[in-house]
Amino acid sequence: MPTLTVISGNTTRTVSVAAGALLGGAIAQSGLPLEQPCAGRGTCGKCRVLVEAGIAAPGEVERQHLTPEELALNNRLACCARVATDAVVVLAPLAVNSAKAFHASDAYKTQPNAPLGMAIDLGSTTVAAFLTLLDTGEVCAGAASLNQQGVYGADVISRLAAAQGMRARSAPVAPPGRCVD
Ligand code: FES
Repeated sequence: MPTLTVISGNTTRTVSVAAGALLGGAIAQSGLPLEQPCAGRGTCGKCRVLVEAGIAAPGEVERQHLTPEELALNNRLACCARVATDAVVVLAPLAVNSAKAFHASDAYKTQPNAPLGMAIDLGSTTVAAFLTLLDTGEVCAGAASLNQQGVYGADVISRLAAAQGMRARSAPVAPPGRCVD
């Protein structure tokens, strides 16, 4: 069984995948963030990744969305490319926007024994986590990350359809840990 090494920023993960597996599903297995806006239908061309090795030759859909130059530079569509042998893929950095506004309090610095709590806003697109002082509710720090469900489409309907097909159950929500880190 081939291994797929997925690199996203400073994080590298390796998973075992079946030969011939679609790259998008294999990346989802790694728990690292990948957006597939058209839910892997091959229509948006926005699930680009950079492959370093181990991926089968591009098919018709990839040749429609990627120029010969882009293909020569090892750009591929995650929803179309298939793992052939041990493979390495680099994910593009994702910008995560959270509309949650707060004023960071540094009161915890002067109250070392104050009880802290973690509030998690679990959205279908973005997951945000906030470290708070339990006594006062003041927010000390916050971070946001992409919900892993993005691999199943940009809209909730696509994600629900994927869940009904039992595909989304294994990796619906990976990012709270990334936010907390
Ligand atoms: S082309 Fe849309 S997710 Fe791959």
